[in-house]
Amino acid sequence: MLKHLPSFLSFSNAIGIDLGTANTLVYLKGKGVVMREPSVVAIHKESKKPIAVGIEAKKMLGRTPGTIEAVRPMKEGVIADFEISEHMLRYFIRRVARKTLFTNLSVLIAVPYGITPVEKRAVLDSAYHAGVDDANVIAEPLASAIGIGLPVNESAANMIVDIGGGTTEVAIISIGDIAHARSLRVGGDAFDASIINYVKRAYNLSIGERTAEEIKMKIGSAVPMEVEMREEVRGRDLISGLPRSITLSSEEVREALAENLAAIADAVHSSLEHCAPELASDLVVRGIALAGGGALLRGIDRFLSDMTKLPVFVGDDPMCAVVNGTGVVIESNRWRVR
Ligand SMILES: Nc1ncnc2c1ncn2[C@@H]1O[C@H](COP(=O)(O)OP(=O)(O)OP(=O)(O)O)[C@@H](O)[C@H]1O
Ligand SMILES: [Mg+2]
Repeated sequence: MLKHLPSFLSFSNAIGIDLGTANTLVYLKGKGVVMREPSVVAIHKESKKPIAVGIEAKKMLGRTPGTIEAVRPMKEGVIADFEISEHMLRYFIRRVARKTLFTNLSVLIAVPYGITPVEKRAVLDSAYHAGVDDANVIAEPLASAIGIGLPVNESAANMIVDIGGGTTEVAIISIGDIAHARSLRVGGDAFDASIINYVKRAYNLSIGERTAEEIKMKIGSAVPMEVEMREEVRGRDLISGLPRSITLSSEEVREALAENLAAIADAVHSSLEHCAPELASDLVVRGIALAGGGALLRGIDRFLSDMTKLPVFVGDDPMCAVVNGTGVVIESNRWRVR
């Protein structure tokens, strides 16, 4: 039997949570994914009182008036601000749990592989404070492999690369367990930061995080495209201090992202080098599955395939992979590995 699996699964009300650096998703047993919101909380600066959570709070990022601050309580996959993350988790759990009348509510929360016991305790405590009866964790790479339907219970190896907002997790899974994993503190946030730096260096223009993220989604790519794209970008001139706009090309964005992409390729490469030869040879046939929002970057599958010479494919609905994995676990009361 999978040793990660908690014993609470016979509970009738269960929710699965992907508490991500960028997005939090919630799966309600019997219903499916019922919530997907940015992991952002807007707080009043003086009183420290939360004003908005999720999408409403994200709209305020970088745009808040002096008295309000929009905070992302998760950094690099783990809780960076305990109080605010607890508020956020409580808000999300309560919103979904209303549908269950809170009776015998258990939660299964996906956490990064390699999380410390203290970090794990903090996540569980936040859930208990939100009023759940039972809380357990599952390793994110395992959840995301299950979520995209990889045959994790077989002895032949599967590799999953989950490129999230804060981290990229690379894992090799065999017989329902993680045989090798590594977590890299490079993800979509680092991509955005690289775009901000590039625009600053090349154009003396300061742009915000949300603008950088929009550029990445609109014209970002990992490999040259048949038709390259351009996008008008507005920001503040660093010399005159006035608003100014420039036109940025997809080639430039690719250049900005090159170092981050190389770091991800290195992590995949070294995982392949360090795993058992039998597992590595399975991957020649099975290839590498991509999940997480970063898997949506144009051409990232081809980029990693060129770098590793292995087949690479993007899983269905990659941003829901982890939460769907928690869903599979909580739906099957007697989930067993054969
Ligand atoms: N089309 C796209 N192209 C490139 N990046 C994208 C696209 N769509 C979303 N992203 C990026 O994906 C990231 C969010 O992915 P995801 O929701 O999987 O992260 P997360 O689970 O919250 O983070 P983590 O797993 O690191 O805690 C963001 O950085 C976002 O900008
Ligand atoms: Mg994630």
